[in-house]
Amino acid sequence: MSAVPLTRRWPPPICSALTCACMLLASCLPAADHSSSPPPTVVVFKHGKLSGDPQVLSGLLREFEQAHPGVTVREEILPSSTDQQHQFYAINLEGKSVPFDLLAVDVIWVQEFARAGWIQPVDQGLPDPERKTFVAGALESATYEARLYALPWYVDAGVLYYRRDLLERYGFAPPKTWPELARITRAILDREQDPDLRGFLWQGKQYEGLVCVALEFVRGHGGGLLGDRNPEGEAALGYMRTLVEERLSPSFVTTADEEATRHLFGAGRAVFMRNWPYAWSLLQAEGSPVRGKIGLAPVPSFPGHESVPTLGGWMLAVPERAPHPLEAKDLLRYLASSAIQKRLALELGYLPGRSDLYQDSSLLEAKPWLAALSPVILRAKPRPVTPYYLMISQVLQPELSAVVVGLKTPEAALVSARRQIDRILGAP
Ligand code: GLC
Repeated sequence: MSAVPLTRRWPPPICSALTCACMLLASCLPAADHSSSPPPTVVVFKHGKLSGDPQVLSGLLREFEQAHPGVTVREEILPSSTDQQHQFYAINLEGKSVPFDLLAVDVIWVQEFARAGWIQPVDQGLPDPERKTFVAGALESATYEARLYALPWYVDAGVLYYRRDLLERYGFAPPKTWPELARITRAILDREQDPDLRGFLWQGKQYEGLVCVALEFVRGHGGGLLGDRNPEGEAALGYMRTLVEERLSPSFVTTADEEATRHLFGAGRAVFMRNWPYAWSLLQAEGSPVRGKIGLAPVPSFPGHESVPTLGGWMLAVPERAPHPLEAKDLLRYLASSAIQKRLALELGYLPGRSDLYQDSSLLEAKPWLAALSPVILRAKPRPVTPYYLMISQVLQPELSAVVVGLKTPEAALVSARRQIDRILGAP
């Protein structure tokens, strides 16, 4: 701010004196119209960074404000990593006053947050037929003691991205099984002889995404990560390590998350990538080096077994101590509505959390891959639905990481994980 102008003279010019007199007079008059309207209610919406154009969501929020005079929505954006967001909520939802009204929760947190009393039921006034339109696995994850504590906003399911141009060049169809994927990868890498081209990318860093990927391998072999010792699960984990050892996957995958793999695949430097559907719109955007050269397929499985993508996704919930719970619930119902989920799918490529949209002809026309993949997406399997999921995952993450970097055998890792999980859950 500038100080008093050097040219200012005393006594003040007449017009300034007049201005002061007018201002004094005005302060004695009745308040103008605008000052009588109450200040807007500010509803704070906390959510992780969405991919694509941020104007899409903010535009939808402005439309909500227009339909709700007196309410303003403020977005507060967290990093997209689920682990970092969980840390934030575990600290902030515990306190006496919670500085936000609506939050986007990962499907894996709802049980924990509901049990802790951090979020409130959101099913009042939700008719049963409407409740049934939500994707079944997401609904299961959001139900705690027969009440719904969150409404699905968008869902995720693991999918396989492939370089259609490269597969066509060598006469390959998209692989249905892991051994097929390995064979195609080897053949293309051998024939392309491109030192910058990698094979199959996936998320192998020590974090939640690794648990999602490992479950797809293990369940796609008829096994599990929890419960009794199962050779199927161990063999599937061993296969993940083999991919790295045989350089079908670069060792980079052992430190990679969703975005790291998307960037490399998006630069045209890999044949295959496992990721969530959000990447499709970004990879197909104008200027993307792989635009028009890629395809999507169900995540492979082992021969004789079905593809079992992991269900992910985000839901909307209202903190138990939200400052404006009524307005927050209005906003929640608006954002979880079919109309808004359809727009998020069209404009940002997020998969709807409502199963009826998978039959919506205008959506399927705009996103033909949705029709092809919807049977697989709709049967995606949630991670274990329990209030203790985060603890279980925190045990699994270092054990799985030790397998993919070659420090532990799958058997040793799963025996150790089981011992720790039993201790946490108080098993005899
Ligand atoms: C995606 C999924 C979420 C999962 C996370 C793992 O954001 O929607 O459910 O936990 O990826 O990185």
